[in-house]
Amino acid sequence: MAGIFITLEGIDGAGKSTQSGRLAEWLKQRTGRETVRTYEPGGWLGGESLRGLMLSGTKFSAMSELLLFLADRAEHVNRVILPSLRQNCNVICERWNESTIAYQAGGHDLNPGHVKRIISACNFPEPNIKILLDIPPETAIERIKSRKPDRFEAEGLPLMRRVAESYRRMASDEPGKFIRVDCDGMTEDDVFQAIASRLEAFV
Ligand code: TYD
Repeated sequence: MAGIFITLEGIDGAGKSTQSGRLAEWLKQRTGRETVRTYEPGGWLGGESLRGLMLSGTKFSAMSELLLFLADRAEHVNRVILPSLRQNCNVICERWNESTIAYQAGGHDLNPGHVKRIISACNFPEPNIKILLDIPPETAIERIKSRKPDRFEAEGLPLMRRVAESYRRMASDEPGKFIRVDCDGMTEDDVFQAIASRLEAFV
């Protein structure tokens, strides 16, 4: 049986990296398989320079922005995601197609139908499970205010609100695939327990 492919989604500051670490330990124990943790943008050897370009101050047109994120994903798929799944490893990836729909369409006004069609033409692997860490945009802004903002974080609350709304729509459109955790007021442990108890039905 092939490895399990799980993506973690949520606005900036939602706690994806923390939960990815905990989930990787849990998944490894539960399945007995190696579990690869990765992320986008830039989670492949050489991807840091593309990540730097995309998150720096350079203001790209909305379409260039979309195509850059998809180019990054195409490399990530070929170099990391597919080889890992083919070796029967589990893969946990922070951000995936839903980030592109939430930020480039929901957040940056590209037509969602067009963005979905372009993504679909890329034929990237479909995750087995998508986890949405749903935190209030105000909480996210509070959490990230001490770090140097990247290009998206610098857009602040208005962008975070649109992105959060878009994520919620996707989660409710695909209830069989998404595990949405309402993280408001929850500790790191609570969030992890919520994820693990829902995942037990699948893994
Ligand atoms: P990330 O490193 O996950 O930021 P953080 O750790 O703060 O959550 O992602 C960097 C930024 O890239 C984030 O603001 C969202 C943006 N992004 C998109 O706009 N579209 C995409 O397809 C992806 C993968 C990321």
